[in-house]
Amino acid sequence: FKTLDDMDLAGKVALVRVDINVPMKDGKVTDATRIDRIIPTVRAILDAGGKPVLLAHFDRPKGKVVPEMSLQHLIPALEAALGQPVSFASDCIGVPAKEAVSAMQTGDVLLLENTRFHAGEEKNDKLLAASMAALGNLYVNDAFSAAHRAHASTEAIAHLLPACAGRLMEAELTALDAALGNPARPVAAVVGGAKVSTKLDLLGNLVGRVEHLIIGGGMANTFLVAQGVEVGASMAERDMADTAREILEKAKAAGCTIHLPTDIVVAWEFKADTATQTVPVAQCPSDAMILDAGPDSIANIEAVFKTCKTVIWNGPLGVFELPPFHIATTAAAKCAADLTAAGKLISVAGGGDTVSALNQSGAAEHFTYISTAGGAFLEWMEGKTLPGVAALAK
Ligand code: 3PG
Repeated sequence: FKTLDDMDLAGKVALVRVDINVPMKDGKVTDATRIDRIIPTVRAILDAGGKPVLLAHFDRPKGKVVPEMSLQHLIPALEAALGQPVSFASDCIGVPAKEAVSAMQTGDVLLLENTRFHAGEEKNDKLLAASMAALGNLYVNDAFSAAHRAHASTEAIAHLLPACAGRLMEAELTALDAALGNPARPVAAVVGGAKVSTKLDLLGNLVGRVEHLIIGGGMANTFLVAQGVEVGASMAERDMADTAREILEKAKAAGCTIHLPTDIVVAWEFKADTATQTVPVAQCPSDAMILDAGPDSIANIEAVFKTCKTVIWNGPLGVFELPPFHIATTAAAKCAADLTAAGKLISVAGGGDTVSALNQSGAAEHFTYISTAGGAFLEWMEGKTLPGVAALAK
């Protein structure tokens, strides 16, 4: 696919699909990472004399105008990140958008209202895409994290204008290719989180592609059950035991070693700073819950990392939001970060919870790459084609 370097931007109106779907609390952006990460693309267009017009969604208004989901709320954060004023149009198509685009001077940045205020957005409607396309001369997709959606502003529009990837899209695709597409081997994948059922496709794809699969969090309990280990009062999807056994067999046949916890940290209450006990995995008390992996398991993960050249990470290893059940995630993340800093490992992580867990551990800044994507990262790890990326490749 093409990049900004292949495009003639001078004097052109560039419609830039960004993902600034950031978390907000009490009217304030609580994590501006996604906003910060689009700045190089906006700057590159401005530096080349182009006029960036930002197209974006915010939250899930389901085709209706929902004032709380107006992109106007993000203008202060966007202006702070860009270091210049940003103008705004109250609709992403029609008269308000046309007038705002015509009023742009070289050096201006314009943000258009939430694309999801139109029902056609999520339907990948060609007419809506054509109305957006009519506003500009070219289309830049910088929203890797929304590329798993075949929507009018991510898919259909890419067929209507000369199209290219923005800097963030390029960086995401390069990092993901280095992690799983064409990685330095051996590769370890860390997959955590609550449920096997939400990550079946992921596990199925990974066993054929990595040498080590480290499973943590609630989903590890399901695998333990599948191996006949009693997990007491822990969360486990007992009806998924057969599926888990199939994954274990598939891994064996593919030469992928699956690592499950060998020791566990258990508690009797699901809350922070409650009484805990660390026991071998076979000795989970019948009334206790497994909430983290223990020190032997951590040592095993660290030993695996040391033999690997690449680590790809999705999902926490324990209930990291409740201390002290963040310890395994933090320790393993620090180990990956140290090996990365020493030039021995390529480490890539993504997915909503994963990034907050790694940020909390302080290790994220030393990872080779932290994706801005949640669902898109997962689908990409599942080996799926992302419509927003595929449309650019055409
Ligand atoms: C995300 O936050 O992962 C993207 O912005 C996509 O949002 P969606 O899940 O509402 O499509």
